[in-house]
Amino acid sequence: MHIPVMREAVLAGLAVRPDGRYLDGTFGRGGHARAILERLGARGRLLLMDRDPAAVAYALREFAGDPRVAVRHANFAELAEWEEVRPGLDGVLLDLGVSSPQLDDPRRGFSFLADAPLDMRMDPAAGESAADFLARADEREIAGVLWRYGEERLSRRIARAIVTRRTESPIRTTGELAELVERAIGRRERNKHPATRTFQAFRIHVNDELGSLERALPAAAAALKPGGRLAVISFHSLEDRIVKRFIRGDAAAPAHRGLPTPVEAGPPLRAIGRPQRPDEAEIACNPRARSAVLRIAEKRETEAPAC
Ligand SMILES: C[S@@+](CC[C@H](N)C(=O)[O-])C[C@H]1O[C@@H](n2cnc3c(N)ncnc32)[C@H](O)[C@@H]1O
Repeated sequence: MHIPVMREAVLAGLAVRPDGRYLDGTFGRGGHARAILERLGARGRLLLMDRDPAAVAYALREFAGDPRVAVRHANFAELAEWEEVRPGLDGVLLDLGVSSPQLDDPRRGFSFLADAPLDMRMDPAAGESAADFLARADEREIAGVLWRYGEERLSRRIARAIVTRRTESPIRTTGELAELVERAIGRRERNKHPATRTFQAFRIHVNDELGSLERALPAAAAALKPGGRLAVISFHSLEDRIVKRFIRGDAAAPAHRGLPTPVEAGPPLRAIGRPQRPDEAEIACNPRARSAVLRIAEKRETEAPAC
């Protein structure tokens, strides 16, 4: 099962209204969704989305009988394409990253704790698996991914080891990759497997996690009604930086994608409170919460045009 992170803080941040319309863009196993649903009345609506077909199958099994719920299999970057979103939303939740069932199922290839096919895709029918990426990409590209998404100082050494190994045999399993990284860079940190950053980097790359987030934030802000709330839980600094900058209005549109938002329009959101982290009691019960950061923001009331 997946234990929802900072459940009460998320609910308080979303300020759930019984007749509101909410989107949980990262359903997972529905820990947050269930809590939101408990606060909705008969006229409320909860839209559930996940890019993982296993999560969507679970959502349909658990919630499809509830007339207040709609379920969609999609990347949250495409939330604006869902007609259920068009009437406007009172709240959007994005609880980023992977769920415990994804990490714990060795067949998904996210973890080096068990030897399994090296896949790492949240949607196994979309895009390229980690094994295919490692078979195709050149050394520079692999090193770049390790550097950018894993903040791995020894990125070049690991990339070289990967390219050398694959001339002998393809790298097809999590165990092969973990062992190769350990041989290339040795054990550096006492409580951390040397392949931790490598696995994070390839997972972020294979799923285009940062690109999805960059596209989702403006779409969520546009879909929110004035006064509607956005809650985002990030699990590493790369994600949190994107969320922080977007809320501040520094990165309304990333420089490499499309045009910047006109300055006079101002940022669409304002931050509510400071970023929140789980307390020690929560981390003790759920160690996966330890790196979480929750940010809440509210859609500004639109001002009447001065004419
Ligand atoms: C941390 S879990 C969410 C857990 C959930 N809040 C709960 O309480 O059960 C993240 C989930 O978001 C999904 N996900 C991650 N990125 C996504 C994206 N870009 N679009 C849709 N779903 C995504 C993953 O497949 C995973 O199921």
